[in-house]
Formats: sequence, C-alpha cells, structure tokens
Amino acid sequence: MVHGKADSLLGAVYLATSALTSVAPAMNQAMWCHPATLDNIDTLVQRGVDIIGPGDGIQACGDTGPGRMEQPELLIEQLANRFTNGKLQGKKIVITAGPTREPLDPVRYISNHSSGKMGYALTAAAIEAGADVTLITGPVNVAPPSRCKVISISSAEDMLDAAMVEAKDAHIFIATAAVADYKAVSVEAQKIKSTQKTLTLTLEKNPDILSSIASAYQQLFVVGFAAESKDVQAYAQDKLRRKNLDVIIANDISRQDIGFNSDENEVSWIDKNSSTLLSKRNKTQLARDLIEKIATACGSE
Ligand code: C5P
Repeated sequence: MVHGKADSLLGAVYLATSALTSVAPAMNQAMWCHPATLDNIDTLVQRGVDIIGPGDGIQACGDTGPGRMEQPELLIEQLANRFTNGKLQGKKIVITAGPTREPLDPVRYISNHSSGKMGYALTAAAIEAGADVTLITGPVNVAPPSRCKVISISSAEDMLDAAMVEAKDAHIFIATAAVADYKAVSVEAQKIKSTQKTLTLTLEKNPDILSSIASAYQQLFVVGFAAESKDVQAYAQDKLRRKNLDVIIANDISRQDIGFNSDENEVSWIDKNSSTLLSKRNKTQLARDLIEKIATACGSE
C-alpha cells in the first residue's frame, strides 16, 4: 500500500478507490515492531488510512506480543464509528432494556423472555448518531456496546432508581425494557420449601418506570414501546395518552416472525398526530431508522 503496488487484487483495489480505507494488521510481533513496518504504518496514517489494532497477546507462531488481528466485534465497531452521523450530537439519551427479575426468595425470581436485542440495537444506533448514551439493563445474553455508560440492574425498583437519577439531565428517554408487571409483596428470607402441594404467592404491581419518568421530567422527549397481541393501534394510542409519551413504538406480538427474541421486527411509530408503519427489517436497521426519526422529532436536526 505504501509503495502503490498494484500486483494483487487488494493492492489494485486500494489504488483505485477513493473510499475511506481501514487496515487491521496481523503479523508476528517482531515484524510489527520492525522500524520498516512502523515507518510504513506512519506513512499510511499520514495518508488518512485508519489503522485498527493490532491486539496484543499469544500469536499463532508461538510468540507473545503486539500483532494479533483485532477482535472481529471491535473491527465492526470501529468501522461503524467511521459512519457516525452526528444527528444526536450533544444529546444525552437514557435507554432501558431487557427483562427485570423480581425475587421470591434467595434463589427464585419471576421474569420474562425479553432478549434485550431491541434496546441494545437502539443503544448502538444512538452511539452512532453521536449521543451520550446510558443503558440501564436487566440481565441479558447480549454484550453491551462500548462507548456508553452501562448500569446493570435486576429488579424493577432498581431500574426505576437508576432511571430517576440518569434521566434528570437527559434529553431523550427510551423505554424498551420488559419490566415485570408484578413483584412479591414480601421476599422470603429463607428458600421456600417445595414440600407443599400448592403454593400461593401474593404479588403487587411494580412501579411504572416509563410514566414515572415522563411525569417527573417534563422536558424529556419520551419514547415507549407497546407489545400488543390485538387491537395494536388502539391500545398503543391509549398507552401514549395514559403514560404521557411523545411517541410509542407498537408491535404485534401475535406474529411469530417478528418481535420478542427475533432478530427482526415490524413496528408502528405512533405520535399524537400520526401513525407510520416501519415495515419488517432487522433490528439493527430498525434501530437506526427509529433513532433518525427520534432525532428529527425532537428537533435535533
Ligand atoms: O403497559 P405496558 O407494559 O404495555 O407498557 C410498555 C411500555 O412501558 C414499555 O416502553 C416499557 O418499557 C414501559 N414500562 C415501564 N415500567 C413498567 C411497565 C412498562 O417502564 N412497570
């Protein structure tokens, strides 16, 4: 690349393109540390080539040191960073995601199947848009994006406490969390014995995090999600009014091909004046489209 050799497909493409170019070097540690290599890397950097990595550690040849190809997830993230659009620059966004767990005794809890995928995709899209993002998350199996503040919680009460603190100086609040509707009136200090034939639990309603935040902080642009199995539009409109939201994103959970635990979703964007269908697409793309609509709606563009 430094010498402009076009004797390989890669070399030829590099010379012929005017696109942004990123390089993820991978080589033996001594090769990477050689002044010839370092000078070449310097030259590429001066020409505007973006160098990702290399990582440091055990190498395929048995050596240890710098020269490992950077982790694929990190490569993707760094490449995505090159396309930051700045639509939410200067905005603080708080996003709730995943399920909550409501303890019954020291070993058991009530929860739900939320995967957290939608909330995590929105977090990544908001970071891409240049926002300062705080993700308040219940326990999920997805790794959180880097470059945001992550607060891991377990119960709805914990999520509410964290949200109250974080939303105070925020501009946008997005609630994707599947908050458990009920919690045990009292959590047993000892493990509940399984000797009884039947067990009756007394549950009480959890606080509604979204409406608590919407009424506590009037300045916030508040976005809720509504998973409905019938009369999707009507129930979502009602929720928009009752919870005092700016927008509600409604999806039909009676459909097997979208939503919960799926990588795809189809939703309706419902605000006080209109309803717009965002047809089925993968959650990453949907999240980017929703963040763009949120940026426009709250006047960030
Ligand atoms: O009333 P419903 O649970 O359908 O409302 C869904 C919306 O409200 C979602 O945005 C969800 O994150 C939020 N919610 C909440 N706290 C609750 C229940 C729901 O923030 N206790």
